[in-house]
Amino acid sequence: MKIKSLDALQIFDSRGNPTVEVIATLEDGTTGHGLVPSGASTGHHEALELRDGDKSRFRGKSVFKAVSHVTGEIARTAIGRDVFDQAGLDAALIALDGTPGKSRLGANAILGTSMAVAQAAANARRVPLYESLGGGQGTLLPLPEIQIFGGGKHAQGRIDIQDFMIMALTAQTYEETLEVTANVFHAAADVMRERGLLAGVADEGGYWPMFDRNEDVFDALMASIERAGYTPGHEVGISLDIAATDLFHEGHYTLGLEQRRFTSEQFAALMIEWVTKYPIVSIEDPMAEDDWAGWKIVREAIGQRCQLIGDDHFTTNIERIERGIVANTANAVLIKLNQIGTVTETIAAIHRTQAAGWLPVVSARSGETEDAFIAHLAVATNAGQLKVGSFSRSERMAKWNEVLRIQRLLGSRARFIGAGIFASAGIQLP
Ligand code: PGA
Ligand code: ZN
Repeated sequence: MKIKSLDALQIFDSRGNPTVEVIATLEDGTTGHGLVPSGASTGHHEALELRDGDKSRFRGKSVFKAVSHVTGEIARTAIGRDVFDQAGLDAALIALDGTPGKSRLGANAILGTSMAVAQAAANARRVPLYESLGGGQGTLLPLPEIQIFGGGKHAQGRIDIQDFMIMALTAQTYEETLEVTANVFHAAADVMRERGLLAGVADEGGYWPMFDRNEDVFDALMASIERAGYTPGHEVGISLDIAATDLFHEGHYTLGLEQRRFTSEQFAALMIEWVTKYPIVSIEDPMAEDDWAGWKIVREAIGQRCQLIGDDHFTTNIERIERGIVANTANAVLIKLNQIGTVTETIAAIHRTQAAGWLPVVSARSGETEDAFIAHLAVATNAGQLKVGSFSRSERMAKWNEVLRIQRLLGSRARFIGAGIFASAGIQLP
């Protein structure tokens, strides 16, 4: 089955910023859409999101050039190719771009195409996307990592730490993880309301962080878990994304809220202290992207008992993941399609992570769309974990809900191991 045409348009993400949608049409009329997400706390090693930079239009954020690259050069390369040869198409797009960071055509133009073709292939096969992407091997429903309080760049720096999240540790089913999360999410609103701190939500749907100290958030989070009727560290674990790259300037880490400044060793010690003090089961980007020595300190101290996820540290880039595996800086990798720019490279990053005995965590971006591609990607690859932001706003709920639908489609083939995924990577939660 051949690709007959590619179309593209500028649409808008969950922050109201322009992004790319690509529509692939096959020779039998089958179509597939790919909607590209967009980050705010982006790593320096990510593939390039091409924006027009014309300040007179959409504050410089329009993506008309990327759209025209899809309908021009990219379409000329893709048309006539076999829709089932995703790897061949993605390799051809990488070669056509010709730069290491996909900066000529734009990773947004390339990824939109790659996703649209993957979806068209599934539609042509008349199977769900997870089935097509995973070659029928994907059956594991993910353990969700769900934000309760948003911070960092997703809340205009109101607090320093980016994500305060929970994971349902004793849930026996995917539905039960959502029930636990819903209970904690709504209990958190009650706690914030009582404290006079309820003020809407941040970019990923978690409550706006009206706190004066980063550690006050732990207190509110523990109170919310308890208010919902759970014991922190038993039914519900705490999970953090420090997004430490954003806190690292000129050789120092800064917590602006408390006007505290840290060396790399001191900041690593703070991360280790928090893990001993609170029931934290996972920390993402505890150290800045290129602070390999800092990462090693944290990994050696707490890597046996806590998931340590590299996001900006690895940028879904197999070469950086490889370096991390050799240097043993983490034990998990955040997986974001648009950090690397093709479906094939994303799946290769997941497989490399799994081959090392590490854990992939499939993730959304802070700027999202209604596309639920990542729910399918998580199941297709048996990744075991999914991070989508909070439990509100439809661009987030679209993904959580899609996993419920996938579960129905899988029927008796569906598997759920929940927090059992940690033991599979040698992480023994205390
Ligand atoms: P981003 O945030 O999409 O703004 O990069 C998500 C994350 O850091 O995990
Ligand atoms: Zn992150």
